[in-house]
Amino acid sequence: MPLNIAIDGPAGAGKSTLAKAAAKELGCIYVDTGALYRAVGLFALRRGADPGDAAAVLPLLPLIEISLQFAENGQRVFLNGEDVSEAIRTPEASDASSKVSSHPAVRSFLLDLQRDLAAKNNVVMDGRDIGTVILPNAQVKIFLTASPEERARRRWRELVEKDTTARFEDVLAAILERDARDSSRAAAPLKPAPDSILLDTTGLDFSQSLEGLLKIAGKAAK
Ligand code: DC
Repeated sequence: MPLNIAIDGPAGAGKSTLAKAAAKELGCIYVDTGALYRAVGLFALRRGADPGDAAAVLPLLPLIEISLQFAENGQRVFLNGEDVSEAIRTPEASDASSKVSSHPAVRSFLLDLQRDLAAKNNVVMDGRDIGTVILPNAQVKIFLTASPEERARRRWRELVEKDTTARFEDVLAAILERDARDSSRAAAPLKPAPDSILLDTTGLDFSQSLEGLLKIAGKAAK
């Protein structure tokens, strides 16, 4: 069985940056599963469908084909052949992704794609339900978190580089709202797998966090 490392945790915990670096270090591909939900959310927005309304989103699923490509500098996401890797990163797409991800049919629509990748490749896969639902047999499961304020600060710093009017309070409110929705939904809510190891990166810089993650991965993969 290929090496499967599952990293779950709330928005803004630094999962993607850390998972990408860890994957490079460990010779795995890095799979960002949030991008899949974002692509579905983006498609719903473009079609004028309310992402929170299952009845509006479900008929769209047969019209969606998502594929991933793994390049040296990270994953690219294709929605019906179009590279949407940047388009899925707007605040609107973030909100829509969280909403569509609450529909069980959307989750099962994306399940096989994720499992296939992990069955064929050594992967570091990040998301919300990787250790609990997608890859219950992953050799390493990490629950990566940080305080909401710290996570909002990190997101805000990224956003403000593109949009200088971005307000910290708005970013924090959006994070808290998304946390609540991701954790309280009935379908595959965000929660640590019982056999996961908690890594709290509050107050840790990137290299300290990466060191912590690699230590856990190294120990658990043995
Ligand atoms: O990790 P992210 O912020 O790009 O994820 C976008 C949304 O997708 C997030 O609000 C919750 C959802 N998601 C999910 O439900 N399950 C996953 N494995 C990954 C993301």
